Amino acid sequence: MNDTAAELELLIRSKYALLLVDTAEPERADELLGLIASQLSMQYFSWTRSRGMRRGNQPGDPFIEHTAEPAKAVARVLLEGSGVFHFRGLGPFLDDPVVASHVVDAVQHFGNRRGAVVITGHDIHLPDSLRPHAVTITLPGPDFNAHRGQLERVIRELSAKMPVKVELTAEDRTRLVNNLVGLTLTEAEKVVTKLIMEDGALRANDVKRVGAAKRQVVEQDGLLEYWPAEESLGEVAGLVGLKTWLSKRRAVVDDPQRAAQFGLGFPRGVLLLGVPGCGKSLCAKAIASEWGLPLLKLDPANLYDKYIGDSEKNFKRAMRTAERMAPIVLWIDELEKAFASSGGDEDGGVSKRVFGTFLSWLQERKGDVFVTATSNDIAKLPPEFIRKGRFDEVFFVDLPKPEARAEIFRIHLKRRNQEPAQFDLAGLARASEGFSGAEIEQAVVGALYGAFSSTKSLDTAALLQEIDATRPLSGTMHERIGELRRWAADRTVPAD
Ligand SMILES: Nc1ncnc2c1ncn2[C@@H]1O[C@H](COP(=O)(O)OP(=O)(O)O)[C@@H](O)[C@H]1O
Ligand SMILES: [Mg+2]
Repeated sequence: MNDTAAELELLIRSKYALLLVDTAEPERADELLGLIASQLSMQYFSWTRSRGMRRGNQPGDPFIEHTAEPAKAVARVLLEGSGVFHFRGLGPFLDDPVVASHVVDAVQHFGNRRGAVVITGHDIHLPDSLRPHAVTITLPGPDFNAHRGQLERVIRELSAKMPVKVELTAEDRTRLVNNLVGLTLTEAEKVVTKLIMEDGALRANDVKRVGAAKRQVVEQDGLLEYWPAEESLGEVAGLVGLKTWLSKRRAVVDDPQRAAQFGLGFPRGVLLLGVPGCGKSLCAKAIASEWGLPLLKLDPANLYDKYIGDSEKNFKRAMRTAERMAPIVLWIDELEKAFASSGGDEDGGVSKRVFGTFLSWLQERKGDVFVTATSNDIAKLPPEFIRKGRFDEVFFVDLPKPEARAEIFRIHLKRRNQEPAQFDLAGLARASEGFSGAEIEQAVVGALYGAFSSTKSLDTAALLQEIDATRPLSGTMHERIGELRRWAADRTVPAD
């Protein structure tokens, strides 16, 4: 935040006369810009569409009459002569050539006078006439200290009105504030106020409820879903290459600041391609719990839901939410379903545009968001995904090798309260040549049903029988898998 303030101040000092500030919190921008103006000994003006332009941003500061109209408000800049002019939510009005032309006048006017026009909002679309004059800055979300400060203030203010019991240890307090990070200050204030109002107290168990409130914020768009990260990489057989790759990056995830001093950025993500049922989705989920990060799932199906609204805007909003919840793992399962290359024209180009937005987000995104994407059908996937720069690595997940198959039997037998040592795992692995992990799991479950209904205990023979009765997908898809392997050979890295 201080960096952003310093940067904005420097820009205004250096005569950048049109600044766009990308933020979900115009109130915070208002406060910040007011401070910067006073540090530069300049007059501060703040405009909104409903109330018009105001001299300053303190209670009691006067509004200027007849300035609610965007064109009139911007024209006012020339009359005032100099100052920092903050226009909240002017973005949509810039399409009006009259408004845009007043902005150009103002900007040129500041060529030899002190001042700047600052427009705040999200996704401000500039007309061509303004683009050459503008610099865009993103206001980072409130950090730990900002949230801590606000928490103290909310407690103080409520305590003045009602008895408030604060039963938090220093650690609880830190955890509480850590949980608030990712919310805007306005959202955080609402959450904390509600927690206190409910029972007149703030206790250790409220920390968890902040997590739930945050989850609600994330999920309200209907695009991202908090996913419980229960799987661990220990429950994934094989995929040794992928696991090694992940473990090498673990230290960076644990301490991104120190890693940055080494010149190492936060890992960007992996794309897992391959044969269905071999652990891609499983792995995508396991990474989050392995790294101790929250897991957010993007559901591509909802991206195009006409009841949710404008797909592209929704997508951008979802990505912004993902960024402010960082550090997180963002999981996009079966990418081809969202961005199938054939789906481009049938829907009037919507999925093509969303795809373009997604590609540029992958490349330019800020913040510590690790993307794990999976795909079962690369033929349907636009080739751009494979190009360098989008993901750190593209892994090919093939059918499990014999050792991995034995391990999959072990994992799934154990999960169902069977003692793996009592089974001939090597023999089972040999018999299940060509089976995917999912098919092995199915065989275990099937054999277990059989054993249970005949009131026998499960043994190797029953499993072998179940295997024998199974037609693995790799038999019927023999040719497709061959193609997939040839395709993957020089484009991807084997996951195992
Ligand atoms: N390598 C593996 N190790 C352990 N279990 C596996 C493995 N591969 C698949 N499975 C089992 O099969 C299920 C389905 O696998 P999944 O990850 O959904 O496959 P994919 O996403 O590759 O199609 C998993 O939930 C898991 O129970
Ligand atoms: Mg899957």
